[in-house]
Amino acid sequence: MTAASRRYHITTFGCQMNKADSERMAGILETMGFEWAEQPDDADLILYNTCTIRDNAEQKVYSYLGRQAIRKQTQPDLTLIVAGCVAQQEGEQLLRRVPELDLVMGPQHANRLQDLLEDVFSGNQVVATEPLHIMEDITKPRRDSTVTAWVNVIYGCNERCTYCVVPNVRGVEQSRTPEAIRAEIEALAQQGFKEITLLGQNIDAYGRDLPGSTPEGRHQHTLTDLLYYIHDVPGIERIRFATSHPRYFTERLIRACAELPKVCEHFHIPFQSGDNELLKAMARGYTHEKYRRIIDTIRHYMPDASISADAIVGFPGETDAQFERTLKLVDELSFDLVNTAAYSPRPNTPAALWDNQVSEAVKTDRLQQLNRLVSTKATERSERYRGRIEEVLVEAQNTKDPTQVMGRTRSNRLTFFPGDIATMQGKLINVKITEVRAFSLTGVQPLAAPIALV
Ligand code: SAH
Ligand code: SF4
Ligand code: F3S
Repeated sequence: MTAASRRYHITTFGCQMNKADSERMAGILETMGFEWAEQPDDADLILYNTCTIRDNAEQKVYSYLGRQAIRKQTQPDLTLIVAGCVAQQEGEQLLRRVPELDLVMGPQHANRLQDLLEDVFSGNQVVATEPLHIMEDITKPRRDSTVTAWVNVIYGCNERCTYCVVPNVRGVEQSRTPEAIRAEIEALAQQGFKEITLLGQNIDAYGRDLPGSTPEGRHQHTLTDLLYYIHDVPGIERIRFATSHPRYFTERLIRACAELPKVCEHFHIPFQSGDNELLKAMARGYTHEKYRRIIDTIRHYMPDASISADAIVGFPGETDAQFERTLKLVDELSFDLVNTAAYSPRPNTPAALWDNQVSEAVKTDRLQQLNRLVSTKATERSERYRGRIEEVLVEAQNTKDPTQVMGRTRSNRLTFFPGDIATMQGKLINVKITEVRAFSLTGVQPLAAPIALV
């Protein structure tokens, strides 16, 4: 069978980095002549781009994989690939566990998919997990959206948070040059994209591995400098970035966000815990006081800014009193959204080996308590939108109600309103908010002001 008649399906787990990698790998497959298959069972090549941040994410991959491995027994020309973070973590062991696999490839190898597949098609079972300098993109990604796009600015992470697998599976920090990033954004603008999100696991580390420093000793290419450098790309209307690390978040960055009109007033800054001893055990490098100062400073410059975060409950040694401090922080800071998770011990991370693990029952109970509070606070935060006019960038049809379209406010709130996607996609439209929920809004287009009769 030639590549021209072959079809592929990609299933993506995990974070935005994985989504961005999947789009690039899809681009490579299409350049090779593969066509997208909506159903995995119709595809001749199946790629799982995997996540291992918590155990349940990893287990999900094995259950999906098991089904396709069975299919391969009756369809030997099926190509089965595991990419991403589980691939990097497990490497060769994955072949022992699932011998039907053709290719196991870590995240740093995403751009090499064509070379690796050529090796597979010449009859080899391939494992690509050695550390690599990531090549500049050579292929046009197949983007899921025509309106909003991810732009990687820094790969990897040099932090050593004691719970986290990311540095093991994504490798050391590698920043792309400002020129390469700007060139990608200019190309996106020409294709009609309106919004970009700059991506990095620790985006505040951007540039510290690039050569050059300022007379004050600061490295020359900070995230703040990058925002100024890319801000004027014509056609791009909105700029976002994620994920921010409180340890490196600067007032200079906050001022740039306030000053640059395209940069949206939305910040994703995980705090993980509201207790200083736990933050220390996590090796996060900040206190809850410092975190609060950051949020205060953001709200000083941008009073309406929306703030989201991540938090972990049941980290080893977490006492009731320490957990209460996380609740207190959430209560006092009023987040727009908090992604919460019960601590999950991960392979080759320090905290997994400690003997003060918290029981699953306690973790579940704390998670429920925290989720209830998060949702109450988010509902309160949503109230401020009621009756207001918000600028919404229309992305797609509302899948649940085709008479409506969906988009996001500058603050990243999902918003639905009646409209026709054919004429509205990619447009910035003012919407009057009529209904508010914890994490989404509904509105209508305000009637045009009546023309005064003279
Ligand atoms: N780079 C980002 C987060 C990356 S992982 C940061 O520094 O904040 C995304 C989120 O998953 C983390 O913020 C954390 O809340 C959660 N997480 C990571 N490892 C985890 C683990 N072992 N157990 C539970 N949650 C975890
Ligand atoms: Fe993981 Fe910490 Fe790096 Fe975030 S900063 S990816 S939590 S090690
Ligand atoms: Fe998961 Fe890898 Fe992202 S472990 S959260 S897909 S960096």
